[in-house]
Amino acid sequence: MKIISFEGIEGVGKSTQIKLLKDYLESKHFHVDTYREPGSTDAGEKIRDILLNSKNQLSDEAELLLMFASRVELIKQKIQTSKSDYLLLDRFYDASVAYQGYGRNLSISFIESLISFINCPIPNLSILLDISVEEGFSRKTNDQIDRIESSSKIFFQRIRKGYIKIAKDHKDRFIKINASMDIEEIHNEIINHINL
Ligand code: TMP
Repeated sequence: MKIISFEGIEGVGKSTQIKLLKDYLESKHFHVDTYREPGSTDAGEKIRDILLNSKNQLSDEAELLLMFASRVELIKQKIQTSKSDYLLLDRFYDASVAYQGYGRNLSISFIESLISFINCPIPNLSILLDISVEEGFSRKTNDQIDRIESSSKIFFQRIRKGYIKIAKDHKDRFIKINASMDIEEIHNEIINHINL
């Protein structure tokens, strides 16, 4: 089984690319499952509601721990038992380093110990779709703004920089793609990096 995670700030087009890659892999007769974080299990989807509902006031620490509560359920209930050829993840643990570490300024070494504590499998490939904060948010005009999205622009600029650093620090598994390119161009770049 191969795990491919998709990362980036809001509006980079992760869901579109995940769908295109799923269709491509299925056309080659692979079995593919896709999961989103936070969420994708019964408990995880409830945790997602708590995390994203703008009516909820949450400390940064509670936000971090809830992300990991959702993640451990995804790992135990879906990833560890998976019989698929490919798992496509709409965000994984790098998102906690980017959002809660670089974004909220929580301890990155503590986040790394949570990653080990819950035995996160390391993705075979992580795709960072990179775009400016302005362009990302301008693409999201139709959506309702959730609790995390209502954070400041500076917060998202820290996250973007954080993601770029994470991708550099883990060159062995990360590729960074300019997400302002056409949808098809991005898709082609992604499939060029998939070793079937
Ligand atoms: P999304 O699935 O629509 O991208 O929404 C998930 C939101 O949660 C998004 O703002 C990113 C944020 N998030 C974190 O802050 N930390 C995490 O570890 C994960 C997985 C997501």
